[in-house]
Amino acid sequence: MSMRSLILLACLSCVGVLAEEQDIATVLAPSLGETASADDLTSLTLNVLPDGQGLPAGSGTVSEGRALYAAHCVSCHGVDGQNGINDALAGGHDTLTSNRPVRTVGSYWPYATTIFDYINRAMPYRDPGSLSHDDVYALTAYLLHVNDILDERATLDAASLKRIEMPNRNNFIWAINPGATQ
Ligand code: HEC
Repeated sequence: MSMRSLILLACLSCVGVLAEEQDIATVLAPSLGETASADDLTSLTLNVLPDGQGLPAGSGTVSEGRALYAAHCVSCHGVDGQNGINDALAGGHDTLTSNRPVRTVGSYWPYATTIFDYINRAMPYRDPGSLSHDDVYALTAYLLHVNDILDERATLDAASLKRIEMPNRNNFIWAINPGATQ
């Protein structure tokens, strides 16, 4: 028997012995990641619907959002949401029917509530779930401000976020029932 076969045999018998005592899936698992805590799950299972259902308590201002953006977002998304290494988050208004449409949360997204949901669920890219609800309201307010949708002195909470009408809101067609308006 070759050396390689002997080593393989030795490994297989180790697995066999371990498997008698532990579940085979546990033995063969790659031991990556960590078990999600109850807090992780609460943050990631918050679902905010387009009409604002699910928005949590809390609030944030444009100026708080500006500071948070500088600390957590500008490295990837650029100053005021433009010219970064990742998606532009501002600008692009009036470009959607041109040959080079620039789709940003401001020019393209139909609902402001989705901005809250997205940031809360997925950003910052390397540490999703790390922001408080107040932080997410503030960042949403700041992104709406740099898209000229919200005044610089504004404070955003569930009630005011629900009321915002995005510029591109009426330009989507429902795939299932194209005649429907909502
Ligand atoms: C390490 C880089 C990085 C950082 C930091 C980061 N993002 Fe992002 N962001 C991305 C990438 C990459 C995408 C695109 C993800 C995809 O399409 O799956 C994205 C997408 C987004 C989008 C959706 C854009 C669109 O039009 O689809 C928003 C909104 C957003 N980020 C907000 C933020 C906010 C707010 C922060 C700070 C709290 C932040 N991001 C921090 C990399 C980053």
